[in-house]
Amino acid sequence: MAKHLLVVGSANADLYVEIQRLPLPGETLPGRNAAVRPGGKGANQAAAAARLGLPTRFAGRFGSDAFAAPLREALAGAGVDLSPSRDVPGPTGQAFILLQQGGENSIVLVGGANRAWEEHPRFDLADCGAVLLQREIPENINRAAAHAARAAGVPVVMDCGGDDEPIPGDLLPLLDVVSPNESELARLTGMPTEDDRQVLAAARCLQAKGVGTVLVKLGSRGCLLVPRSGEPVRQLAFKVNVVDTTGAGDCFTGAYTVGLVEGMSEHQRLRLACAAAALCVQRLGALPSMPTRSEVDGLLSVMPS
Ligand code: RIB
Repeated sequence: MAKHLLVVGSANADLYVEIQRLPLPGETLPGRNAAVRPGGKGANQAAAAARLGLPTRFAGRFGSDAFAAPLREALAGAGVDLSPSRDVPGPTGQAFILLQQGGENSIVLVGGANRAWEEHPRFDLADCGAVLLQREIPENINRAAAHAARAAGVPVVMDCGGDDEPIPGDLLPLLDVVSPNESELARLTGMPTEDDRQVLAAARCLQAKGVGTVLVKLGSRGCLLVPRSGEPVRQLAFKVNVVDTTGAGDCFTGAYTVGLVEGMSEHQRLRLACAAAALCVQRLGALPSMPTRSEVDGLLSVMPS
């Protein structure tokens, strides 16, 4: 039986507004093209993996409001199996996204249902090829999923986005791959991450605390993969016209994890992830921007390896 991916994480209604620049304190600015789009780091990563063709299950919590059904529909439409997800009373998670010219964003998060997990969730890991986590749900849920995965011999990948607090020390050794961006890596380690040499030193610092591979997302500069032993691998980003960076990191981590479950080499996984992210940033929205496998293969076929 083909292995599937289990994504444990958040689902949000992304409330978008496009602005020229961030308002100063006390200032009022006009916005335009306000829209509600499906998102949330867990949902985005699950959609990214499913759109790339990997059987993918999503364990998340949806609220009892009008945002829940469109989110479920978007995930199911991307091919995600929602059987491990549950509905809970109260509002669905929401993200207020200020999309600035050039595609950069600023986000305010309201956790809602993403924070309303039961105390001791159970995870079915039969035929599971990897568990993918982020940090928009309670840390004890990530801890429970990581422990269950370790007991079942299933690799755990954590995208570090969603919470600026340090990752608890007992969780770090359960993480086979952690994927921060540069600023998350700086916050997690207290070290500068302004160039590749500093990024490598900070990644090694995380590894000294017990994590396995560190996969650092460097935005338009690509990524740096730092295995526990062996040489780091650098992959440059594919140059494209950026419309909206929201969800690009999720797309990257989701695609990398697809490559992991499919048994690709590290080099192939990084190319898959960079190509998927390059397609994602050219579209508006997070979850709706996740590319299909044929789109990614098409881009890879014209990019020298
Ligand atoms: O990573 C992008 C996501 O962050 C958005 O979809 C938003 O929901 C926030 O969680």
